[in-house]
Amino acid sequence: MDMNLLARKIILTIAANKTVVNLVSKHGMKWGAARFVAGSTLAEAVQRVKELNSRGIDVTLDHLGESITSKEQAREAVEACLAILDAIHQEKLRANLSLKLTQIGLDIDYDFCLNNMREILERAQKYNNFVRIDMEDSDHCQITFDLFYTLLNEYGPERVGIVVQAYLYRTAGDVEELIKRKSTIRLCKGAYKEPAEVAYPSKKDVDANYLKLAKTYLRSGVYFGAATHDEKIIRELMEFVEKEGLRKEQFEFQMLYGIRRDLQEELVKKGWRMRVYVPYGKDWYPYFSRRLAERPANLFFILKNMLKP
Ligand code: FDA
Repeated sequence: MDMNLLARKIILTIAANKTVVNLVSKHGMKWGAARFVAGSTLAEAVQRVKELNSRGIDVTLDHLGESITSKEQAREAVEACLAILDAIHQEKLRANLSLKLTQIGLDIDYDFCLNNMREILERAQKYNNFVRIDMEDSDHCQITFDLFYTLLNEYGPERVGIVVQAYLYRTAGDVEELIKRKSTIRLCKGAYKEPAEVAYPSKKDVDANYLKLAKTYLRSGVYFGAATHDEKIIRELMEFVEKEGLRKEQFEFQMLYGIRRDLQEELVKKGWRMRVYVPYGKDWYPYFSRRLAERPANLFFILKNMLKP
């Protein structure tokens, strides 16, 4: 296993420790979580979306939350998703919605979760908007695909999409099937702690697989989101599009709120499509720990803030 993945495993293990959870949940916003999270309310997030839209950047809004264990919590999350779709419509934002299935009841009851998704997609249909299902850890991968394919058959690829992770061995097969079904995806590297039985243990292999999958999608002509901040991959994809005579409008780059803003601006200026994932809400802890694990250097930024009077 290489050092990057080892560091990620260590940070995610420490982040799951109860004492750490309590301490960081209490002070984390002040220590630096605010760099990655667009606020705790929808109104705050809408302001950030307006700023991004005014700079030529599209958005996907995410109400933070995952792994909930009661139907009440799941219903609250559904209401939050509906409120996002209403706000996007009312405020005329250039934005769509991303969500996690464990936030709307996947761990409680499959049919309950499926019906929650249907309710959200009905609202998206009313506004001609789009909902993307984030991909969680590998234990949830197959069930997420099962539920997604049911919805894809019912609502079509213009209404619902999924995320695939280049670190999983299975993704090449998934991509083949998704292209056959003309399904738009978000391609990311993958952010969870996964064993070598299911995921490439070396960053080099993950990066190579990412490029291979992105080029497969580009050649297919099916629209997709290349979600990465990896400059080397981004430059190679831009060259590939130009060399193969493909259209810039065939795909969009996607990045996370607060990460590589310089690169986001540069790509927009050069005429590439850019979408930023804007998370907001009170349950920011798991999202924040994954951002730290991706880049251990972020820990120094946190430590610096902790030491501020
Ligand atoms: P990599 O980790 O190699 O980083 C490349 C460079 O990007 C770094 O050198 C650094 O400059 C910068 N960078 C990356 N992460 C940073 C951070 N946290 N802080 C500061 N700089 C950073 N994952 C998942 O499992 N399921 C999902 O649904 C999603 N959804 C998603 C949406 C969008 C829009 C994005 C961009 C990413 C995701 N991810 C995700 C996360 C993804 O899997 C991955 O963990 C991160 O994007 C980091 O990987 P990179 O591709 O950026 O490359």
